[in-house]
Amino acid sequence: MRKKLVVGNWKMHGNRSANAALLAGLKEAGPWNADVAVCVPFPYIAETALALTGQAIAFGAQDCSAQEQGAFTGEVSSAMLADLGCRYVIVGHSERRAYHHESDQLVADKAKAALAHGVTPIVCVGETLAEREAGQTELVVKRQLAAVIHTLTHCIGEIVLAYEPVWAIGTGLTASPEQAQAVHAVLRKQLQAATQKADAMRILYGGSVKPDNAAQLFACADIDGGLIGGAALKAADFSVICRAAS
Ligand code: 13P
Repeated sequence: MRKKLVVGNWKMHGNRSANAALLAGLKEAGPWNADVAVCVPFPYIAETALALTGQAIAFGAQDCSAQEQGAFTGEVSSAMLADLGCRYVIVGHSERRAYHHESDQLVADKAKAALAHGVTPIVCVGETLAEREAGQTELVVKRQLAAVIHTLTHCIGEIVLAYEPVWAIGTGLTASPEQAQAVHAVLRKQLQAATQKADAMRILYGGSVKPDNAAQLFACADIDGGLIGGAALKAADFSVICRAAS
């Protein structure tokens, strides 16, 4: 039985006082019988680490560089994230693939850099609406995952995978549990062909997960938790989702 994992992706939201209130709300609402983490903007990682000292809630970042170190202005290395105590880093989020033109290979290289420093990459894959409508969902997510499998080889079992259909992100349109489960099963099969650890790996669903649809999604055989955007910004909503995973 895989323990569920619920991760809040704060994206580019928050400020010091709002973050403090949100984290205080989560501390009060927990603990849950699920692994829980928040992935916060870079400037707030250190303060989040402090606020979560001694708590069962893990924290992480939303991106990292594929480079080890050097003259890469504006980039943040996975060594730095490890230095701050980050447990997770999201890589390949569709917003980065779309707005920063991140390729499948760059995403895979970022995942590799994270693992090299003991930070667990949460690798996002997902199709756009046009791709779904063209019947290319499987093709797209398998291509995205294949780059990661090829690059990480025997370490692939160490990642967390997240299926986030682009058309469901921030739109209020959620994939139905059947739609999500179908893609998760495809991804699990691809992982099974690559590693013996596939059945122990967690595949999260992300895209308009809310307090009222989380339980149904998490009940699916291959959905091992969620990557939560908007609903992670409200302690009350996020805790209901964490409870649904418990
Ligand atoms: P929403 O939950 O706001 O749709 O965002 C999902 C997401 O992109 C999490 O990474």
